[in-house]
Amino acid sequence: MHNFTYYNPVKVLFGKGQIQQLGQLISPNAKILLTYGGGSIKANGVYQQVEQALQGYKVIEFAGIEANPDYDTLMKAVEICRSEKIDLILAVGGGSIIDGSKFIALAAKYNGDAWDILTKADAIFTEAIDLGAILTLPATGSEMNSGAVVSRRSIGAKQAFMNPLVFPKFAILDPETTYSLPKRQLQNGIVDPFIHVTEQYLTTDINSSIQDGFAEAVLKTLINVGQDIVNGTQDYDTRANWMWAATNALNGIIGIGVDHDWATHMIGHELTAAYGLDHGQTLAIVAPQLWRQQSNNKSAKLLKFAHNVWGLENNHPDVAIKQAIIKTEEFFHSLGVKTKLADYGITVDAEKIVANLFKYSSSNLGEHQNIDATAVKEILAMAQ
Ligand code: NZQ
Ligand code: ZN
Repeated sequence: MHNFTYYNPVKVLFGKGQIQQLGQLISPNAKILLTYGGGSIKANGVYQQVEQALQGYKVIEFAGIEANPDYDTLMKAVEICRSEKIDLILAVGGGSIIDGSKFIALAAKYNGDAWDILTKADAIFTEAIDLGAILTLPATGSEMNSGAVVSRRSIGAKQAFMNPLVFPKFAILDPETTYSLPKRQLQNGIVDPFIHVTEQYLTTDINSSIQDGFAEAVLKTLINVGQDIVNGTQDYDTRANWMWAATNALNGIIGIGVDHDWATHMIGHELTAAYGLDHGQTLAIVAPQLWRQQSNNKSAKLLKFAHNVWGLENNHPDVAIKQAIIKTEEFFHSLGVKTKLADYGITVDAEKIVANLFKYSSSNLGEHQNIDATAVKEILAMAQ
């Protein structure tokens, strides 16, 4: 196992009715910027619960953060934070709202060009506005990590950043807030955490038995609940297991001391920027082909995946690996998630995707840095 430092300061309040605890988490004098998206929180009653819990607080609202939050929108909120001297940003929604709020929190305290946050590896940040999160869409893990992804549609970019200053101070996860999710977001909410796990698990076999066992438990949970979730089950425990699985897929715990890949995500972000596909949709397209293209490098972990997740113990290793990838595709199909670009009517412009992918960093991708421009083009051709 590699050396590691594990740090996760997020206080998590999980379960029914936990939004009522907001008043215990926020200082009575704090001036709050309440950030949310297109209004789903008003339709499902989450907004009303927040309003009730924040009676007596000074609250300014910033609505309209879009899916794949946009730089230009977020910069408007940065101005409000500065002019209103906001003490805490309360993000209520899915990954886009939490990610966008992380960017706002950091940008509001940064004197340079805010685009540096996403593109300048050596930029120095010393402060961020405090952030709290109320999650309504289990998928990204943003509620319990320090990462965020921001799009800038005006230049066709989608970039990620990580900074410990933007770990939420607290995250409230009430599975009942997920009952109102439409099918497409339920599908994304199974695929995204599944691939978060594989980005950290399907890498090098370094005998990390705790991380691997935890990763396998998260994958098996997602496989077990996937069908019911996508069919809209209102069973509380199924929703709870799903929500906690999605958080654990990307709160750092399965990724400590092991190699990470993230190439599927990097390629997927470019597909979203170029063609507007949902984040989860891009992952289901890229991951299986990336595993095939990289199967020699990933063979030991793909075999573990075949044995421990898909139960394919009795096959020859090469056959088991091939079958595990097919089983994963079949799982996505069983959720109604497509796995080819052509299924969305897209003919990929691989040259453009590769040019954007290596625009801000010339390093190759993958846990062995062996996924170069040629490999990406091969993966995209296989995914067509
Ligand atoms: O706009 P609102 O009204 O909030 O509606 C949203 C939005 O239309 C809706 N929704 C959310 N909760 C709902 C609901 N509708 C009904 N009932 C509810 N309870 O769902 C739609 C999609 O929301 P969004 O926040 O965009 O989805 P998701 O959580 O999948 O976030 C995707 C973004 O997160 C980034 C992605 O790249 C993408 O930009 N990621 C962030 C990561 C991180 N911070 O660690 C890692 C991920 O890999 C990912 O890249
Ligand atoms: Zn993701």
